Amino acid sequence: MKKTALFLLVAASLIGCTANNKATKNSINQKEVIAKLSLEDKAHFVIGTGMAGFSGNDAVIGSTRSLVPGAAGTTYPLDSLGIPAIVLADGPAGLRIDPIRKGDSATYYCTHFPIGTLLASTWNTQLIEEVGQAIGEEVKEYGADVLLAPALNIMRNPLCGRNFEYYSEDPVVAGKTAAAYITGVQKNDVGTSIKHFAANNQETNRMNNDAHISQRALREIYLKGFEIAIKESKPWTVMTSYNYVNGTYTSESKDLVETILRDEWGYEGTVMTDWFGGKDGAVQMWAGNDMLQPGKAEQFQSIVAGVKSGKLAEADLDRNVARILNLVEKSPRFKGYPYSNKPDLKAHARVTRQSAAEGMVLMKNEKLKIKNEELAAPLPFSDKIKNVALYGNTSYDFIAGGTGSGNVNHAYVVSLLDGLKNGGYTVSEELKTAYETYAADCKKKTEEEIEAAAKKNPGSAMLLRFMPRPLPDEKLFSANELAKQAKDADIAVITIGRISGEFMDRKVADFNLSDSERKLITQVCEVYHKARKQVVVLLNIGGVIETASWNSLPDAILCAWQAGQEGGNSVVDVLSGKLSPSGKFTMTWPVKFNDAYSSRNFPIDQDPRIDLMNQGAKSADVRNVDYTDYEEDIYVGYRYFDSFDVPVAYPFGFGLSYTTFAYSVAKITENDDTYEVTVTVTNSGEHEGKEVVELYVAAPDSKAANKPVKELKAYAKTKLLKPGESETLTMTVKAADLASFDAEASAWVVAEGDYQFLVAASAADIRATLPATVKARQTKAHDVLKPQAPISLLRR
Ligand code: BGC
Repeated sequence: MKKTALFLLVAASLIGCTANNKATKNSINQKEVIAKLSLEDKAHFVIGTGMAGFSGNDAVIGSTRSLVPGAAGTTYPLDSLGIPAIVLADGPAGLRIDPIRKGDSATYYCTHFPIGTLLASTWNTQLIEEVGQAIGEEVKEYGADVLLAPALNIMRNPLCGRNFEYYSEDPVVAGKTAAAYITGVQKNDVGTSIKHFAANNQETNRMNNDAHISQRALREIYLKGFEIAIKESKPWTVMTSYNYVNGTYTSESKDLVETILRDEWGYEGTVMTDWFGGKDGAVQMWAGNDMLQPGKAEQFQSIVAGVKSGKLAEADLDRNVARILNLVEKSPRFKGYPYSNKPDLKAHARVTRQSAAEGMVLMKNEKLKIKNEELAAPLPFSDKIKNVALYGNTSYDFIAGGTGSGNVNHAYVVSLLDGLKNGGYTVSEELKTAYETYAADCKKKTEEEIEAAAKKNPGSAMLLRFMPRPLPDEKLFSANELAKQAKDADIAVITIGRISGEFMDRKVADFNLSDSERKLITQVCEVYHKARKQVVVLLNIGGVIETASWNSLPDAILCAWQAGQEGGNSVVDVLSGKLSPSGKFTMTWPVKFNDAYSSRNFPIDQDPRIDLMNQGAKSADVRNVDYTDYEEDIYVGYRYFDSFDVPVAYPFGFGLSYTTFAYSVAKITENDDTYEVTVTVTNSGEHEGKEVVELYVAAPDSKAANKPVKELKAYAKTKLLKPGESETLTMTVKAADLASFDAEASAWVVAEGDYQFLVAASAADIRATLPATVKARQTKAHDVLKPQAPISLLRR
């Protein structure tokens, strides 16, 4: 008789009940459950329940039709033992589920919050936690159990298609942002899945790319953020990435998943694969990758055969089953949480509106000199600004976020047009009609192209639909038309839009402005300036673009990122001065794409090689496609630009405000191997505002030691300061945080000597230098994840 036949009889005794004996369950007797499972039951339990519709034409990313339609997946239920399937659904910019269901008149829209990059740009961990908490409420009230977020890969190169989901080129910012987000979501007693562990830094051939990375860069850059977030916030789950690292799939790497994650960092949660990630189920089980999502028949077979042949110890499988049971036990579904399907969407619209405004980065705001006349900086709009001329396709069709699994099925997006109207401004109806007609024509053309593509290859048409692109060209106007528009308006706003996402990296052309965008900015600035009117450029983007060749033209530039469903309102809150911008960049903006050292080793304008089911073999050896040498080593982002004196368009940590801030009485004290830096920040300008203070540390003899000239170690943000108001901020750094990874010694090593703690407003704006003598220390680590062949590494 099959063991499962017994389940019904024993189910009641395996599950603890609450004192009053209601249906609410609170614990699982793991030992007994595992003892009742056959090998096949266990193999089923560690893989998901498959993905409905995957093989058809209606889904390219994770989605299940059961329990919560549109969620990415579920765990395997053991119904007769009272172990329910729990629901795993994407983030990170909000919950991704289907908004409508067959035969159901109710709707299930979720709030589209700002993209990860914008959240990180707030440098406000309390605010990020509040956003996380609001997202978590939607997860819980829509009946999901684990949010597949946050996404924490390092922005290694400006063209990575998923940078919009990620936080920073710096692991401290990435780690702290993720920790705040996780803490917020998990306050609802639902789980998160920090992803993609690790080094999923390109989309091109993401399921088969082998990232060749030095042990030092792995430890200091690509794993560090995960380490910070995991230790600080204990995510319920970790999602391994698709790629190989130094020859091994991350989901098959015991060194990564057991030795580093669990043994070194003390992680106690559950590890799952990315969807269809990795190949050999038995090896994944041995490696400690507890759960394989959404599950493939081969994985099931490999696990069963593995145990039978002795390749996989059944104890390893049991360990993974136990970890999944732990996860189920914590879940709202197991506890019988009566979800409402009615999260507080109104309250969350307010949360997204406010958080989006705080992550916008003011890049420029200058006076305009015309002959003897001088116009004040255009932002915030003065009372005289009433009529706004809106240019740029995306002004009328604001981009809320990126594409792929990071998309959110929102009920609406407030465009800049609507945001301005809501803010009481008048917007040229003539321009609006011109743009609407233009957009309708372009969309018709695109639809025809997709139809034609579908005839040749249905898959490619599906992807084109799934990955919407902005209109190909900007609408241009004649000099006469512009002159008339300038006469009628008080100011011009031009929006430049970009969209990218999963499956595909951006192209160099996407980094640069198109000819029509360049012409639009040049012509509008010329005509408006002649008419003594100013021009603001708004960037509605998910990743950095080229700015150095045109940023002298407009009077102001505001990077609004992709600001979620309330985007237009959030932007207008900033333009109107209701809120002063206080975002700062969490990545460097290079002058030219090639200036980033990683651009030498990044798939440039490659065919994406999408392999949705990870069926491909690792056959060809195309550089940057099949493998990528991380030759820049630890010199990622500002660590490179600063250390090698390469000029940038905007430095890491940069962002202006409507006010100014003075830094004073910066002090450092040492206590118990912890350095505490305090600094008083005073609002020295005329508007209210918040300031982000960054703390970098410069190691002694950094060049000889092959270290970056400085590295961010901590940061803090003031509350909203009124003009003249001050606040003293405290930032702490532990001596151990000053260590570099010495691969030869397999140890974190702090070199002895005189360090400098730099209190800064950006990587290029140091306000105080505080010396401190630091003692030597060393912490052993495991000698794992070695490159298989030497990589030619950049050195100072
Ligand atoms: C993505 C993950 C996502 C998963 C489930 C994958 O394609 O890489 O980030 O969570 O799909 O939708």
